Amino acid sequence: MQIHTARFHSSHSRIEKALAHNMPEFAFIGRSNVGKSSLINKLVGRKQLARTSHQPGKTQLLNLYLINEAWFLADLPGYGYAKVSKKTRGKWQDRLENYFTYRTQLTNAFVLIDGGIPPQKIDIEFCNWMGEKGVPFALVFTKIDKRKYGQGEHIADFQSELLQTWSELPPIFKTSAVNGQGREELLGYIQEILNM
Ligand code: GTP
Ligand code: MG
Repeated sequence: MQIHTARFHSSHSRIEKALAHNMPEFAFIGRSNVGKSSLINKLVGRKQLARTSHQPGKTQLLNLYLINEAWFLADLPGYGYAKVSKKTRGKWQDRLENYFTYRTQLTNAFVLIDGGIPPQKIDIEFCNWMGEKGVPFALVFTKIDKRKYGQGEHIADFQSELLQTWSELPPIFKTSAVNGQGREELLGYIQEILNM
């Protein structure tokens, strides 16, 4: 898929008030620092499209980017950020749950997982929750250019963990925002869904 245009559209703190549009929406979600913004920028070929903020308390629920004037890409705040208070974390958790429960435009979510570290409980739990909710999602392992990625052992472990409760795995992508690995595959997958 060719990216012709990509622009920041709007930012929303509450799902009830978020833009009501009738285009497909693809959400990027994952722990803070997993590489969501970097991957979004790499995907659309723009270095600074997705805004990065080192102040997670300020992160809005939903940053919408309009791609090719035809579909939206949603950048969500990272879950499980250790440095925010329990209260703030609870609030985000609620909002994220609301997003995945009520966002009718949501077409597919990409759950990003750091490919260079062993499976994290919070990621497994989040995937299980998405599965229980019936939210369609694909797994995207990030940072596969890093030495810590090795031969992909952590990815294999993550899959085994999921298979303890799942009979079938979601689609899996392996990506690097540094060298662009996996970009074409991910865009192709989005295109396939758009064509359906
Ligand atoms: P929050 O917005 O805080 O939730 O983080 P994020 O998930 O958007 O992560 P971000 O894209 O800001 O990346 C976090 C750090 O990881 C940055 O220092 C990036 O340069 C680095 N990073 C992201 N993707 C990759 C990758 O594919 N390879 C390598 N080597 N580093 C990456
Ligand atoms: Mg970010």
